[in-house]
Amino acid sequence: MKLAAGALALLVAASGAALGCSSTKDAATDDAPAVDLLGLVPMQDENPDPNVVEVTLEAREGMKTYGSAKPTPVWTYNGSVPGPFIDAKVGDRVIIKFKNSLPEPTTIHWHGIRLPATMDGTLAMQSPIAPGESFRYEFTFKDAGLYWYHPHMRSDMQVQKGLHGVIRVRAANEPQVDHEHVLMLDDVRLKPDGTLAEYLDDTAKMMGREGNTLLVNGVTDATLPIRAGATTRLRLVNVANGRFFNLRLPGHTWRVIGHDGGLVERPYDTEHVLIAPGERYDVMVIANGAAGSVIDLVDDPYERGHESGKRAPLNVAHVRFAGEPALEGRRLPDAFPATAALPVDAPRVALLLNEGARDGELVFTINGVTFPDLPHVEVERNGVRILELKNESEMDHPFHLHGFFFQVLEKNGVSQPLASMGNKDTIIVPALSSLKLVSRFDEPGHWMFHCHILEHAEGGMMGEVHVEE
Ligand code: C2O
Ligand code: CU
Repeated sequence: MKLAAGALALLVAASGAALGCSSTKDAATDDAPAVDLLGLVPMQDENPDPNVVEVTLEAREGMKTYGSAKPTPVWTYNGSVPGPFIDAKVGDRVIIKFKNSLPEPTTIHWHGIRLPATMDGTLAMQSPIAPGESFRYEFTFKDAGLYWYHPHMRSDMQVQKGLHGVIRVRAANEPQVDHEHVLMLDDVRLKPDGTLAEYLDDTAKMMGREGNTLLVNGVTDATLPIRAGATTRLRLVNVANGRFFNLRLPGHTWRVIGHDGGLVERPYDTEHVLIAPGERYDVMVIANGAAGSVIDLVDDPYERGHESGKRAPLNVAHVRFAGEPALEGRRLPDAFPATAALPVDAPRVALLLNEGARDGELVFTINGVTFPDLPHVEVERNGVRILELKNESEMDHPFHLHGFFFQVLEKNGVSQPLASMGNKDTIIVPALSSLKLVSRFDEPGHWMFHCHILEHAEGGMMGEVHVEE
């Protein structure tokens, strides 16, 4: 166990409860930055081989306390919400000995990870893991980046109940930083008695469940300790069912250095990082503030349809400046190696996203039908396809493709810079807009694609790509 002392401070939640921060196990490289886990539990690696991560993961019922609310029943991985943090490096083999101790069947999907289809955790390739049954997931991490894991059955319920965890895969040459935090953005709806609401009212069906309590790594009112002037890297993943986070740090500008599929060639600056369910952003900032002062990390309103943007800014977390003098002369990185470009021309697949009604029920459709009625997209192995996504509904849909990265060629007919977009696996298709994506299908099997607002996926907005052997 190697700790970088400076990066590991004790965090105190606003409730007054102290959260211990542990560094992650790091048998692999000596120069990996410590990650401040802010309430995440590191996964215990049971395998002495430095190139193998072997873990035991059990889905089971448990209890959790959100802030000062009363404890509530939740669904956990190994007893914690979020589930344990898996830390690895590119090329590592990972073995997950999974047991389902929940009262209903489940699977685990490894969101964003390129792996064999039989390990992808969807019902297109595996049978449900029944209560009391086990399944061994095993694959190799091919790509550096931030990924996450969650069930792929009744995912709208199971993810909301607490089943989600994060995976960091490090490259050999990550940028040098003073602080690194992994932030899982989420929300839950708590009833007045502190218990988790299993609501699925009409608004929740329409827009996806949005909670009344914002969470970072399962914690309300989390505080990030940083030193003024220090380079701080935040690795963000949105694991909420429906909420988009539109993050701003007042008085600061974010530098986006990476997306879902790793670092981008040309990092760019922005005031807001808009992150939809399923997406990841890798951002850096050099924050400045007086020693000991606290500023808020804010979720600004964003209109994703049906007047969802008519609300006040919300508080996500706080940044507290250390009581040490500001560091001087730090700079943010402005270039990384280029992403290899996929062809810009290939056979086209048109996917029309919309909403509709069937038997008085709200449904979400692709090409006018709901899952599983959409004909499979058939692709030969190594085939390249242009996905022409057109959103004809009046709300945004974050489109997610399993098993493969895609690159964004065009948005509403305007070409998009690969140098700043890089590889993605989830992207917002804004209301009444179109996107042109390209992907190479180099792994055989059946793969899902769907809206990552989980109520929309379960409500029909889902399909399959079949890649030949
Ligand atoms: Cu994270 Cu099929 O999704
Ligand atoms: Cu959707």
